[in-house]
Amino acid sequence: MLDRWRAQAEWFDARLAERLDAIGRDCPDNLREAIKYSLLAPGKRLRPVLCLMACEAVGGAREEALASSIALEMMHCYSLIHDDLPAMDDDDLRRGRPTCHVQFDEATAILAGDALQPLAFQTLLESQLPADAICESSLVLARAVGAEGMVGGQMDDLLAEKREPSALSSDQNAEWLRAIHRRKTGALIQASVELGGIAGGASPGIRHALVEYGRAIGISFQIVDDLLDVESTCENTGKMTGKDSARGKLTYPSLFGIEASREQARAWIADAVNSIACLGNRNEPLVGLAHYILERSC
Ligand code: IPE
Ligand code: IPE
Ligand code: MG
Ligand code: MG
Ligand code: MG
Repeated sequence: MLDRWRAQAEWFDARLAERLDAIGRDCPDNLREAIKYSLLAPGKRLRPVLCLMACEAVGGAREEALASSIALEMMHCYSLIHDDLPAMDDDDLRRGRPTCHVQFDEATAILAGDALQPLAFQTLLESQLPADAICESSLVLARAVGAEGMVGGQMDDLLAEKREPSALSSDQNAEWLRAIHRRKTGALIQASVELGGIAGGASPGIRHALVEYGRAIGISFQIVDDLLDVESTCENTGKMTGKDSARGKLTYPSLFGIEASREQARAWIADAVNSIACLGNRNEPLVGLAHYILERSC
Protein backbone atom coordinates (compact mmCIF):
# COMPACT_ATOMS: atom_id res chain seq x y z
CA MET A 1 0.00 0.00 0.00
CA LEU A 2 1.26 3.52 -0.71
CA ASP A 3 2.65 5.30 2.35
CA ARG A 4 0.28 8.21 1.90
CA TRP A 5 -2.69 5.88 1.56
CA ARG A 6 -1.63 3.93 4.66
CA ALA A 7 -1.20 7.10 6.73
CA GLN A 8 -4.68 8.31 5.80
CA ALA A 9 -6.14 4.85 6.46
CA GLU A 10 -4.59 4.70 9.94
CA TRP A 11 -5.89 8.15 10.81
CA PHE A 12 -9.31 7.11 9.54
CA ASP A 13 -9.37 3.78 11.41
CA ALA A 14 -8.88 5.42 14.81
CA ARG A 15 -11.84 7.72 14.19
CA LEU A 16 -14.03 4.98 12.79
CA ALA A 17 -13.57 2.99 15.99
CA GLU A 18 -14.59 6.05 18.04
CA ARG A 19 -17.72 6.46 15.94
CA LEU A 20 -18.70 2.85 16.61
CA ASP A 21 -18.22 3.30 20.34
CA ALA A 22 -20.92 5.98 20.16
CA ILE A 23 -23.63 3.46 19.10
CA GLY A 24 -26.14 3.50 21.97
CA ARG A 25 -27.14 0.73 24.37
CA ASP A 26 -30.40 -0.06 22.60
CA CYS A 27 -28.32 -1.77 19.91
CA PRO A 28 -28.22 -5.49 20.84
CA ASP A 29 -24.74 -6.79 21.67
CA ASN A 30 -24.61 -9.38 18.89
CA LEU A 31 -25.61 -6.78 16.29
CA ARG A 32 -22.95 -4.38 17.60
CA GLU A 33 -20.38 -7.18 17.50
CA ALA A 34 -21.25 -8.12 13.93
CA ILE A 35 -21.03 -4.49 12.80
CA LYS A 36 -17.68 -4.01 14.52
CA TYR A 37 -16.37 -7.34 13.28
CA SER A 38 -16.96 -6.44 9.66
CA LEU A 39 -16.29 -2.72 9.75
CA LEU A 40 -13.06 -2.85 11.74
CA ALA A 41 -11.66 -5.81 9.79
CA PRO A 42 -8.55 -4.92 7.81
CA GLY A 43 -9.91 -3.45 4.57
CA LYS A 44 -7.91 -1.18 2.28
CA ARG A 45 -10.11 1.85 3.14
CA LEU A 46 -10.02 2.97 -0.48
CA ARG A 47 -13.31 4.90 -0.35
CA PRO A 48 -12.64 6.90 2.83
CA VAL A 49 -9.06 7.61 1.75
CA LEU A 50 -10.29 8.85 -1.62
CA CYS A 51 -12.75 11.11 0.14
CA LEU A 52 -10.09 12.54 2.46
CA MET A 53 -7.62 13.03 -0.39
CA ALA A 54 -10.21 14.70 -2.63
CA CYS A 55 -11.09 17.08 0.18
CA GLU A 56 -7.44 18.01 0.64
CA ALA A 57 -6.89 18.29 -3.11
CA VAL A 58 -9.48 21.08 -3.30
CA GLY A 59 -7.97 22.93 -0.35
CA GLY A 60 -10.08 21.52 2.50
CA ALA A 61 -8.84 19.97 5.74
CA ARG A 62 -9.32 16.21 6.08
CA GLU A 63 -11.30 16.65 9.32
CA GLU A 64 -14.03 18.26 7.21
CA ALA A 65 -14.42 15.04 5.23
CA LEU A 66 -14.32 12.67 8.20
CA ALA A 67 -18.07 12.08 8.58
CA SER A 68 -18.44 11.57 4.81
CA SER A 69 -15.57 9.10 4.77
CA ILE A 70 -17.06 7.13 7.67
CA ALA A 71 -20.44 7.06 5.91
CA LEU A 72 -18.77 5.73 2.75
CA GLU A 73 -16.95 2.91 4.54
CA MET A 74 -20.17 1.95 6.35
CA MET A 75 -22.02 1.76 3.05
CA HIS A 76 -19.20 -0.22 1.47
CA CYS A 77 -19.06 -2.60 4.43
CA TYR A 78 -22.79 -3.30 4.22
CA SER A 79 -22.37 -4.07 0.51
CA LEU A 80 -19.60 -6.58 1.29
CA ILE A 81 -21.61 -8.33 4.03
CA HIS A 82 -24.59 -8.76 1.72
CA ASP A 83 -22.43 -9.59 -1.34
CA ASP A 84 -20.97 -12.56 0.59
CA LEU A 85 -24.33 -14.03 1.66
CA PRO A 86 -25.26 -17.51 0.38
CA ALA A 87 -28.03 -15.96 -1.74
CA MET A 88 -25.47 -13.77 -3.49
CA ASP A 89 -21.79 -14.72 -4.00
CA ASP A 90 -21.79 -17.27 -1.16
CA ASP A 91 -18.30 -16.52 0.13
CA ASP A 92 -16.72 -17.73 3.37
CA LEU A 93 -13.65 -15.50 3.52
CA ARG A 94 -13.46 -11.70 3.59
CA ARG A 95 -10.60 -9.44 4.65
CA GLY A 96 -8.71 -12.57 5.71
CA ARG A 97 -11.45 -13.67 8.11
CA PRO A 98 -14.64 -15.74 8.02
CA THR A 99 -17.44 -13.71 6.42
CA CYS A 100 -20.01 -12.10 8.69
CA HIS A 101 -22.69 -14.77 8.13
CA VAL A 102 -20.17 -17.54 8.85
CA GLN A 103 -18.86 -15.89 12.01
CA PHE A 104 -22.35 -14.99 13.29
CA ASP A 105 -25.33 -16.28 11.29
CA GLU A 106 -27.21 -15.26 8.19
CA ALA A 107 -29.92 -13.27 9.94
CA THR A 108 -27.36 -11.32 11.97
CA ALA A 109 -25.33 -10.60 8.84
CA ILE A 110 -28.40 -9.35 6.97
CA LEU A 111 -29.34 -7.13 9.91
CA ALA A 112 -25.78 -5.82 10.35
CA GLY A 113 -25.86 -4.79 6.69
CA ASP A 114 -29.31 -3.27 7.13
CA ALA A 115 -28.15 -1.31 10.18
CA LEU A 116 -25.07 0.06 8.44
CA GLN A 117 -27.09 1.86 5.77
CA PRO A 118 -29.05 4.22 8.05
CA LEU A 119 -25.97 4.52 10.26
CA ALA A 120 -24.11 5.90 7.24
CA PHE A 121 -26.76 8.56 6.61
CA GLN A 122 -27.06 9.29 10.33
CA THR A 123 -23.31 9.92 10.48
CA LEU A 124 -23.57 12.41 7.62
CA LEU A 125 -26.68 14.11 9.02
CA GLU A 126 -25.14 14.50 12.50
CA SER A 127 -21.89 15.93 11.12
CA GLN A 128 -20.57 19.45 11.49
CA LEU A 129 -20.71 20.05 7.74
CA PRO A 130 -22.80 23.02 6.55
CA ALA A 131 -26.44 22.05 5.99
CA ASP A 132 -26.26 22.40 2.20
CA ALA A 133 -23.16 20.18 2.07
CA ILE A 134 -24.93 17.53 4.18
CA CYS A 135 -27.94 17.68 1.91
CA GLU A 136 -25.92 17.39 -1.31
CA SER A 137 -23.69 14.64 0.07
CA SER A 138 -26.70 12.61 1.22
CA LEU A 139 -28.27 12.90 -2.21
CA VAL A 140 -25.07 11.91 -4.02
CA LEU A 141 -24.62 8.93 -1.69
CA ALA A 142 -28.24 7.80 -1.94
CA ARG A 143 -28.13 7.90 -5.74
CA ALA A 144 -24.81 6.05 -5.83
CA VAL A 145 -25.94 3.10 -3.73
CA GLY A 146 -29.58 2.76 -4.76
CA ALA A 147 -31.54 0.92 -7.43
CA GLU A 148 -29.90 2.88 -10.23
CA GLY A 149 -26.46 2.56 -8.66
CA MET A 150 -24.76 -0.12 -6.58
CA VAL A 151 -27.83 -2.24 -5.87
CA GLY A 152 -28.87 -2.13 -9.53
CA GLY A 153 -25.37 -3.23 -10.51
CA GLN A 154 -25.45 -6.07 -8.00
CA MET A 155 -28.80 -7.24 -9.40
CA ASP A 156 -27.48 -7.32 -12.96
CA ASP A 157 -24.27 -9.00 -11.77
CA LEU A 158 -26.39 -11.87 -10.42
CA LEU A 159 -28.66 -11.98 -13.47
CA ALA A 160 -25.57 -12.18 -15.69
CA GLU A 161 -24.57 -15.44 -13.95
CA LYS A 162 -27.75 -17.02 -15.23
CA ARG A 163 -27.73 -15.64 -18.75
CA GLU A 164 -26.11 -17.50 -21.63
CA PRO A 165 -23.25 -15.29 -22.92
CA SER A 166 -24.25 -16.29 -26.45
CA ALA A 167 -27.67 -14.68 -25.90
CA LEU A 168 -26.04 -11.32 -26.63
CA SER A 169 -23.57 -10.10 -29.25
CA SER A 170 -20.05 -9.44 -27.99
CA ASP A 171 -20.66 -5.67 -28.20
CA GLN A 172 -23.83 -6.04 -26.16
CA ASN A 173 -22.03 -8.18 -23.58
CA ALA A 174 -19.25 -5.60 -23.32
CA GLU A 175 -21.77 -2.79 -22.89
CA TRP A 176 -23.69 -4.75 -20.26
CA LEU A 177 -20.54 -5.64 -18.34
CA ARG A 178 -19.36 -2.07 -18.30
CA ALA A 179 -22.76 -0.95 -17.00
CA ILE A 180 -22.55 -3.56 -14.23
CA HIS A 181 -19.09 -2.43 -13.12
CA ARG A 182 -20.01 1.26 -13.36
CA ARG A 183 -22.91 0.73 -10.97
CA LYS A 184 -21.92 -2.11 -8.62
CA THR A 185 -18.48 -0.68 -7.82
CA GLY A 186 -17.87 2.50 -9.78
CA ALA A 187 -20.81 4.47 -8.40
CA LEU A 188 -19.68 4.36 -4.75
CA ILE A 189 -16.07 5.09 -5.68
CA GLN A 190 -17.18 8.05 -7.78
CA ALA A 191 -19.34 9.26 -4.89
CA SER A 192 -16.36 8.95 -2.54
CA VAL A 193 -14.38 11.46 -4.55
CA GLU A 194 -17.39 13.72 -4.99
CA LEU A 195 -18.18 13.74 -1.25
CA GLY A 196 -14.58 14.75 -0.56
CA GLY A 197 -14.96 17.61 -3.03
CA ILE A 198 -18.22 18.74 -1.44
CA ALA A 199 -16.73 18.64 2.07
CA GLY A 200 -13.73 20.66 0.89
CA GLY A 201 -15.91 23.27 -0.82
CA ALA A 202 -14.92 22.50 -4.44
CA SER A 203 -16.19 24.82 -7.19
CA PRO A 204 -18.60 23.24 -9.72
CA GLY A 205 -15.80 22.91 -12.32
CA ILE A 206 -13.41 21.17 -9.95
CA ARG A 207 -16.19 18.97 -8.64
CA HIS A 208 -16.95 17.88 -12.19
CA ALA A 209 -13.28 17.00 -12.71
CA LEU A 210 -13.30 14.93 -9.52
CA VAL A 211 -16.43 13.09 -10.63
CA GLU A 212 -14.80 12.20 -13.96
CA TYR A 213 -11.72 10.96 -12.12
CA GLY A 214 -13.88 8.90 -9.74
CA ARG A 215 -15.87 7.38 -12.58
CA ALA A 216 -12.73 6.23 -14.37
CA ILE A 217 -10.90 4.79 -11.35
CA GLY A 218 -14.13 3.11 -10.22
CA ILE A 219 -14.46 1.02 -13.37
CA SER A 220 -10.75 0.32 -13.41
CA PHE A 221 -10.85 -0.81 -9.78
CA GLN A 222 -13.44 -3.48 -10.56
CA ILE A 223 -11.58 -4.64 -13.68
CA VAL A 224 -8.50 -5.17 -11.48
CA ASP A 225 -10.68 -6.93 -8.88
CA ASP A 226 -11.78 -9.32 -11.65
CA LEU A 227 -8.14 -9.84 -12.66
CA LEU A 228 -7.06 -10.54 -9.08
CA ASP A 229 -9.76 -13.20 -8.83
CA VAL A 230 -7.98 -15.00 -11.70
CA GLU A 231 -4.36 -14.17 -11.01
CA SER A 232 -3.93 -13.69 -7.28
CA THR A 233 -4.23 -15.87 -4.18
CA CYS A 234 -6.47 -15.82 -1.15
CA GLU A 235 -3.40 -15.07 1.01
CA ASN A 236 -2.92 -11.82 -0.92
CA THR A 237 -6.51 -10.74 -1.33
CA GLY A 238 -8.00 -12.02 1.95
CA LYS A 239 -10.88 -13.57 -0.02
CA MET A 240 -11.32 -16.75 -2.02
CA THR A 241 -9.99 -16.48 -5.57
CA GLY A 242 -11.08 -18.34 -8.69
CA LYS A 243 -14.69 -17.97 -7.64
CA ASP A 244 -15.89 -15.77 -10.52
CA SER A 245 -15.35 -18.37 -13.23
CA ALA A 246 -16.68 -21.13 -10.95
CA ARG A 247 -19.92 -19.17 -10.57
CA GLY A 248 -20.05 -18.19 -14.24
CA LYS A 249 -19.78 -14.45 -13.52
CA LEU A 250 -19.58 -12.04 -16.41
CA THR A 251 -16.16 -10.44 -15.82
CA TYR A 252 -13.54 -8.58 -17.85
CA PRO A 253 -11.12 -11.55 -18.03
CA SER A 254 -13.96 -13.91 -19.02
CA LEU A 255 -15.08 -11.61 -21.82
CA PHE A 256 -11.84 -10.03 -23.06
CA GLY A 257 -9.00 -12.17 -21.65
CA ILE A 258 -6.28 -11.07 -19.24
CA GLU A 259 -4.17 -8.82 -21.44
CA ALA A 260 -7.01 -6.87 -23.02
CA SER A 261 -8.61 -6.42 -19.59
CA ARG A 262 -5.39 -5.02 -18.16
CA GLU A 263 -5.12 -2.71 -21.16
CA GLN A 264 -8.63 -1.37 -20.55
CA ALA A 265 -7.90 -0.85 -16.86
CA ARG A 266 -4.77 1.08 -17.87
CA ALA A 267 -6.72 3.25 -20.31
CA TRP A 268 -9.28 4.17 -17.62
CA ILE A 269 -6.47 5.16 -15.26
CA ALA A 270 -4.91 7.36 -17.93
CA ASP A 271 -8.32 9.05 -18.38
CA ALA A 272 -8.64 9.48 -14.63
CA VAL A 273 -5.26 11.16 -14.36
CA ASN A 274 -6.06 13.50 -17.27
CA SER A 275 -9.34 14.50 -15.67
CA ILE A 276 -7.66 16.03 -12.64
CA ALA A 277 -4.87 17.90 -14.43
CA CYS A 278 -6.79 21.09 -13.61
CA LEU A 279 -5.93 20.64 -9.91
CA GLY A 280 -2.24 21.37 -10.58
CA ASN A 281 0.25 19.70 -8.25
CA ARG A 282 -2.42 19.34 -5.59
CA ASN A 283 -3.53 16.33 -7.64
CA GLU A 284 -0.45 14.27 -6.78
CA PRO A 285 -1.92 12.03 -4.04
CA LEU A 286 -4.91 11.24 -6.26
CA VAL A 287 -2.65 10.54 -9.25
CA GLY A 288 -0.51 8.22 -7.12
CA LEU A 289 -3.58 6.44 -5.85
CA ALA A 290 -4.91 5.95 -9.40
CA HIS A 291 -1.66 4.32 -10.48
CA TYR A 292 -1.65 2.14 -7.40
CA ILE A 293 -5.08 0.80 -8.29
CA LEU A 294 -3.50 -0.79 -11.37
CA GLU A 295 -0.50 -2.21 -9.58
CA ARG A 296 -2.19 -3.47 -6.46
CA SER A 297 -1.95 -7.13 -5.52
CA CYS A 298 -4.73 -7.12 -2.93
C1 IPE B 1 -14.17 -5.22 -2.64
O1 IPE B 1 -13.76 -3.91 -2.39
C2 IPE B 1 -15.47 -5.21 -3.37
C3 IPE B 1 -15.41 -4.52 -4.65
C4 IPE B 1 -16.18 -3.53 -4.91
C5 IPE B 1 -14.48 -4.97 -5.65
P1 IPE B 1 -12.33 -3.62 -1.79
O2 IPE B 1 -11.30 -4.35 -2.58
O3 IPE B 1 -12.16 -2.16 -1.65
O4 IPE B 1 -12.44 -4.32 -0.35
P2 IPE B 1 -11.78 -3.96 1.04
O5 IPE B 1 -12.54 -2.79 1.57
O6 IPE B 1 -10.33 -3.63 0.82
O7 IPE B 1 -11.97 -5.19 1.87
C1 IPE C 1 -18.70 -6.63 -5.28
O1 IPE C 1 -18.13 -7.14 -6.41
C2 IPE C 1 -19.36 -5.31 -5.47
C3 IPE C 1 -20.07 -4.94 -4.25
C4 IPE C 1 -19.87 -5.47 -3.07
C5 IPE C 1 -21.05 -3.89 -4.34
P1 IPE C 1 -17.45 -8.57 -6.20
O2 IPE C 1 -18.44 -9.60 -5.82
O3 IPE C 1 -16.56 -8.83 -7.35
O4 IPE C 1 -16.53 -8.26 -4.92
P2 IPE C 1 -15.65 -9.33 -4.17
O5 IPE C 1 -14.70 -9.91 -5.20
O6 IPE C 1 -16.58 -10.34 -3.58
O7 IPE C 1 -14.90 -8.52 -3.15
MG1 MG D 1 -20.47 -9.88 -6.10
MG1 MG E 1 -18.31 -11.07 -4.25
MG1 MG F 1 -14.62 -9.76 -7.19
